[in-house]
Amino acid sequence: MTATASLRGRDFLIDDDLGADEARQVLDRAAALKEQRRRGELHDHLLRGKTVALIFQKPSTRTRVAFEAGVAQLGGQALYLSSSDLQLGRGETVEDTGKVLARYVDAIMARVMRHGDVVALAGAGAPVINGLSDLVHPTQGLADMLTVREHLGGWQGRTLAFVGVANNMAHSLLLSGALLGLSVRVVCPPGRVPDPAILARAEALATASGATVAVAHDPREGVAGADVVYTDVWRSMGDAGGTSLADLEPYRVTAALLDAAGRGALFMHCLPLLRGQEVAAEVADGPRSIIFDQAENRLHLHKALLVEQLGV
Ligand code: CP
Ligand code: NVA
Repeated sequence: MTATASLRGRDFLIDDDLGADEARQVLDRAAALKEQRRRGELHDHLLRGKTVALIFQKPSTRTRVAFEAGVAQLGGQALYLSSSDLQLGRGETVEDTGKVLARYVDAIMARVMRHGDVVALAGAGAPVINGLSDLVHPTQGLADMLTVREHLGGWQGRTLAFVGVANNMAHSLLLSGALLGLSVRVVCPPGRVPDPAILARAEALATASGATVAVAHDPREGVAGADVVYTDVWRSMGDAGGTSLADLEPYRVTAALLDAAGRGALFMHCLPLLRGQEVAAEVADGPRSIIFDQAENRLHLHKALLVEQLGV
């Protein structure tokens, strides 16, 4: 498999920066890299001589390690750059930082407070990957599509219900799901609904892919018939709140709520999670939970994306 010409040098700032065919290409590449790794085959020629900068304005376990390990497995070099160590912390602009880094490295991954910061980095001369912003978390959304396909065989005719605060993760699932044909329902309190512009984008994508998107407020009705129940923390990094934790109690994914979805419904969470808050421990640690498969697939997805953008 050779890298797709159409993704070379492209940014990945939001889920639908990729077309549906391009997203499938990245996912197929991720599945192939995963299988090679399972067989113990090296693929350390694919990013040989390439350097990737990883900027973090917020903490990370999965995104950081899956990018660092992934770049190493592909034969490249990753540079972890905490924003407090960069001159960004002393007021150098994001635009100047991007232009300088693009003179040194072949790609930039950035986890930022404001989505505008990752947009400002783009166009500096090296492809930029959004490793989470306040608006979306596209590498997680796309990796989750791989996990859904592995467990359910595909996306068409399937429904994922995201339960909780309609945050960056909900936005990425709306966009990635609608792009690839997975129907997505966001089941949230009336005060924490999806961004209208994201919802409109997802509706347009769903029309093209044959999926549906919807917003519901009643937890049991909202999850009924869903193949996957997904949740995320009630307080995202940098989120000042707006909904009290008490108001979110009905949205906790308990065993009863998972049962209300359907007998075979799977549980997903991007992690990190708080047992007893957005999800009951018996669900997170139960047989229908596929949270660690999700976490693993970040590695394969990041590698696939970088190979398509930069690889030989
Ligand atoms: N899911 C995810 O992005 O985890 P980290 O915050 O640990 O990177
Ligand atoms: N919504 C969460 C996701 C963490 C991976 C946050 O932004 O903190």
